[in-house]
Amino acid sequence: MALKTVLITGSSGLIGSEAVEHFDRQGLQVHGIDNNMRRIFFGEPGDTSWNLERLRGVTKNFTHHNLDIRDRIALETLFRSERFDLIVHCAAQPSHDKARDIPILDFEVNALGTVNLLETTRLHCPEAVFILLSTNKVYGDAPNELPLEELETRWEYARPEDHNGISENCRIDRTLHSLFGASKASADLMAQEYGRYFGMKVCILRGGCLTGPSHSGVELHGFLSYLVKVAISGGTYSVFGYKGKQVRDNIHSYDVVRAMEEFAANPRCGEVYNLGGGRENSISMMEAIHKIEQMTGKEMNWKYIEENRKGDHICYISDLAKFKSHYPNWKITIGLDEIFRQIIADHTQRRDTLRQSVQS
Ligand SMILES: NC(=O)c1ccc[n+]([C@@H]2O[C@H](COP(=O)([O-])OP(=O)(O)OC[C@H]3O[C@@H](n4cnc5c(N)ncnc54)[C@H](O)[C@@H]3O)[C@@H](O)[C@H]2O)c1
Repeated sequence: MALKTVLITGSSGLIGSEAVEHFDRQGLQVHGIDNNMRRIFFGEPGDTSWNLERLRGVTKNFTHHNLDIRDRIALETLFRSERFDLIVHCAAQPSHDKARDIPILDFEVNALGTVNLLETTRLHCPEAVFILLSTNKVYGDAPNELPLEELETRWEYARPEDHNGISENCRIDRTLHSLFGASKASADLMAQEYGRYFGMKVCILRGGCLTGPSHSGVELHGFLSYLVKVAISGGTYSVFGYKGKQVRDNIHSYDVVRAMEEFAANPRCGEVYNLGGGRENSISMMEAIHKIEQMTGKEMNWKYIEENRKGDHICYISDLAKFKSHYPNWKITIGLDEIFRQIIADHTQRRDTLRQSVQS
């Protein structure tokens, strides 16, 4: 089916905005939903309105809807006025740690907001492809049960059979998720059910660390973006536990959107995939700090806090084998060096713009 009209929720955020640009470039009619709730979650540094303005400047067929995904009536009205071929659902309360302060809001946005969208899709355009951005936190801390060895700068899987990382076979229950992990697991399960029970073309992408220059990085969410922001604009970065050797796999938002595009061209019903940077794009906290220092030529201010974040992964690398086997045209195209280069360039520009506006 040729795609004509796409709806992207969380369209001012990191992944949503990349999806807006990508599908707009291809000539599709792109509708975005975003109410800048990231600002409510994280305060002024989380504000995404700069990214909305940027999108307005670079797109041709983009319509923005300042709408809350918790508002079922507003969604109904939108779905009655447009027929969507593809729904990319990226709006979320995205922080593991923040959720403990706002459990009800977190659940309403992540779980109920997702069901609102799935059900509105089923009622108005059941043939559409629906892609949910889920998270590796649905596995809770179960990945920490794998035997690890401590290397000089990172934790590493001890057994050769774990080398490629965590597959979709990892269990999602009887583990410590954080409230965020639990609300996202609820959304993940409901999306699977709309695929399996109703036969809808639903895809669930369980993200590792998703990153790129369009992130409004804050301490509680957006690891690389925030780390670079501190390196460029000042402040002190806090490293929590695990000797700073915790490993994350980082995927550029462009490669995430390319995965969505592959799925939409050959959809399946209720499939779950792990999607991160994989082993080639994995890096530990210590290694990331060292790399930024090398690339910026500046020493970073950071401090070590003994206690790790509750339920935090020690070593998480997404096993990409399932996605690659279903979609052999897809691969990681943006490596770690380029990811760092782009984020550093973007934060340097944002800092300089801010300085100029203060001076004038
Ligand atoms: N960034 C990561 O490292 C990462 C990792 C794994 C999974 N994910 C998932 O990927 C998705 C996208 O993440 P992101 O990094 O782009 O997040 P983001 O915070 O940059 O973007 C989300 C956007 O959704 C908007 N939003 C939030 N609540 C809303 C609501 N009720 N109604 C309308 N809009 C709302 C926010 O204003 C924000 O612009 C999320 O579901 C997140 O859980 C992200």
